[in-house]
Amino acid sequence: MLQDHSLKSLKNFNPNKVPISLYIHLPWCEKRCPYCDFNINTNKLDGDEERLLVALNQDLKDSMKYIQKRKFCSIYFGGGTPSLVSSKIIKSIIKNLKAMKLLKEECEISFELNPKEVSHSYLNKIIAAGVNRVSIGIQSFDQEVLGSLERNHTANDSYQAIKVASEYKNINISIDLIYGIMDQSIASLKKDIEIFCKNKIDHLSLYQLTIEPNTIFYKKELNIPSDKTIESMELAAKDILNRNNIFQYEVSSWSKNNKVSKHNMNYWLYGDYLGIGPGAHSKITLENSITRMIKLKKVESYINNPSKITKVKIDDSSYDLDLAMNVLRVKNGTSFKDLEKRGVYIPDTFKEKLFMGYKKGLIEKNLIKATDQGYKFLNDTVNTFN
Ligand SMILES: C[S@@+](CC[C@H](N)C(=O)[O-])C[C@H]1O[C@@H](n2cnc3c(N)ncnc32)[C@H](O)[C@@H]1O
Ligand code: SF4
Repeated sequence: MLQDHSLKSLKNFNPNKVPISLYIHLPWCEKRCPYCDFNINTNKLDGDEERLLVALNQDLKDSMKYIQKRKFCSIYFGGGTPSLVSSKIIKSIIKNLKAMKLLKEECEISFELNPKEVSHSYLNKIIAAGVNRVSIGIQSFDQEVLGSLERNHTANDSYQAIKVASEYKNINISIDLIYGIMDQSIASLKKDIEIFCKNKIDHLSLYQLTIEPNTIFYKKELNIPSDKTIESMELAAKDILNRNNIFQYEVSSWSKNNKVSKHNMNYWLYGDYLGIGPGAHSKITLENSITRMIKLKKVESYINNPSKITKVKIDDSSYDLDLAMNVLRVKNGTSFKDLEKRGVYIPDTFKEKLFMGYKKGLIEKNLIKATDQGYKFLNDTVNTFN
């Protein structure tokens, strides 16, 4: 739905104060996993990567009006399965960004890989190109659980992937794990978490399996663990992580030695992001509006028309909820001062709702932070900003 009201109070707003990240969507996968509703394509043909590269570069050029005078504080190659794309293409994308002088000095450049593609030869090339953080889609180290997910990689691939990746001292390593899967026992999840703790892996994204409409799993009868078992899984995982001095900093994110994902933190602290690639999402602050945009979803349509977007402006009635939905995910919350420094607009209505939340015991005093109770029931807490 196209809404056409701007945020009245955002007139004369300075977008150049708001940090900006870049998301690059590389859409191809070998096969579609039965639980996945991401915008993917399983039909990569010879020459497609090169054609997508041309479209991405064009998209970037046409997006200078959104980037304005800013440089990217982080870049994220997501998918799909970015590791199916040749390292030459990755090198060319980063080279172009550097030539355009669009990268901040400390720019975090993250890259998603399937464990199958984590090899010295591929990592050497993408690291040489500029990647400094890898995110590996492990999901589980248990072969039976991977079978339930119908993954195209094996537990051996996963062990091998973390062994290879952890030999590199100059990159940060993140893994994705999923819990709440058919045939996954609490003991199996505990083992996964222990493997994360024991190895040189800096970051964990821990997701509960969600059964999304329009997926193969949605149409199937699945033997998903009960709510009680899922709660026990969460408690068991938290217990092991905390005992190993690994702390949660966001709903699904845990980091060692504070190696948080700069890219995701920028989303949650209401920074801007430009998304390029098929179906990529953007959030951009302009002088008098904040606009969310989506690129064309189909690979061919995007290649033929890389700058075409669907826009939804965030108006006064949806702003407070949009802001709360993001910042309250951060476990330690944030302060008014920090958000203002990042150029984030905090309307009086937001402050009033924050105070109402404080009176209900859901929000901490004088901070934009959920209390323990408020974090436990985050959906309810966020809904007080509706
Ligand atoms: C784009 S994928 C990462 C890279 C690669 N495509 C892969 O799957 O290994 C992002 C992550 O989202 C998570 N994910 C996708 N669908 C999910 C679902 N329905 N429930 C929970 N996690 C999901 C998986 O952990 C996956 O690693
Ligand atoms: S490999 Fe990743 S992106 Fe591709 S279908 Fe599976 S979960 Fe989705």
